[in-house]
Amino acid sequence: MMSVDDPLTVTCTAPVNIALIKYWGKREEDKILPLNPSLSITLDVADLRTKTTVVASKQFDRDRLWLNGKEHDINNKRMQTCIRKLRQGADDLWRDGKLMIAKEEWKNYRLHIISENNFPTAAGLASSASGLACFVYSIAQLLQFKETFPGELTTIARQGSGSACRSLLGGFVLWESGTALDGSDSIARQIATGDKWKSLRVIILIVNEQQKKTSSTAGMQTSVQTSDLLKVGGDRNIFLIIRLIKEKFRAKEVVSMQLSRMRDAIEKADFPTLATVTMQESNQFHACCLDTFPPIFYLNEVSKEIIQFVHDYNADNNDITVAYTFDAGPNAVLLTREENLEKLMNSLHQKFGFFPVTREGVTRSVFENSQSDRII
Ligand code: ADP
Ligand code: DP6
Ligand code: CO
Repeated sequence: MMSVDDPLTVTCTAPVNIALIKYWGKREEDKILPLNPSLSITLDVADLRTKTTVVASKQFDRDRLWLNGKEHDINNKRMQTCIRKLRQGADDLWRDGKLMIAKEEWKNYRLHIISENNFPTAAGLASSASGLACFVYSIAQLLQFKETFPGELTTIARQGSGSACRSLLGGFVLWESGTALDGSDSIARQIATGDKWKSLRVIILIVNEQQKKTSSTAGMQTSVQTSDLLKVGGDRNIFLIIRLIKEKFRAKEVVSMQLSRMRDAIEKADFPTLATVTMQESNQFHACCLDTFPPIFYLNEVSKEIIQFVHDYNADNNDITVAYTFDAGPNAVLLTREENLEKLMNSLHQKFGFFPVTREGVTRSVFENSQSDRII
């Protein structure tokens, strides 16, 4: 006679993704609906990744989470929303043609979640993206979650942390801002696989592993409230609104223009355009941070030296062969092509010899989902 082991366990890993067109600002806080669409590349799961084990048992009295060896609050609104939605979509667990757990029974199970990031957490290297993607994906695997529409799981990850929806897919990923009030069309989808551009390489320069002072969530909230560069504020007078509408604001005009340039560059594997738009995007995002009141400084002096280095390097080579992008932190992500990698790494080493440097490739398959269909 077969039986289901209690506890049940699933382990998954999820990669980070790096935004080339940045998400910065929400139009709706609770459902995490963004002001603008964003586009990212998903890195190889082999290097920067989250690994999460979910254990379900009827013996547990409540859901609990441990992050990097320390207990972490799981009763926050975002994680609770994710868990609630995943439970709503839970399905029967079958093994060898036999029904082991009927979906109604899941309500008797509580979850213990153990997660670790193998790279700095909350330092601007997208830990909330891999972390919440892994959280949602591994619980979904355990509960046999069934999507009711394509991309539904990405809408759940989005409600854990906006950028997390993009980590559920590999290659080049677009997160649509959507228009539906319930957020059902604010999904992430793959627009090109990593195979589309096999020579693309990503280098991570860890400048500072410390946790940032201003979380992405708090930072973008203040930007939405105070930065005219990002968006027209809600409480402006009508004359100012008319004047501002004519001008180009990031969330309205600039992103849509840059997004179409970037999509075109990906389609044609046009590195100089991809690189230029990536650098402009990063700079404009940090300009919005400076335009936030009080200003937010995510870049430090070393970050600025890296920016200068990249521009000098491209000028010396009379070609755009490397690009930088920085998220909400001082750590740099450089893009280049395989044929330039060695020379670039040597120059970086000469100039900034002290960096722990990780090399990444754009992934082909993202989820190395170690035990997803093996519930043990
Ligand atoms: P980052 O730039 O690293 O994404 P954020 O400020 O966006 O920084 O988010 C950091 C927060 O994300 C952490 O404080 C933690 O609450 C959450 N987080 C990071 N990794 C994980 C994980 N593996 N599991 C659950 N939550 C995580
Ligand atoms: C600068 O997804 O971390 O990395 O949705 O509030 O959790 P929340 O924020 P988060 O913001 C990421 C901001 C960014 C740009 C990006 O990844 O697109
Ligand atoms: Co984040």
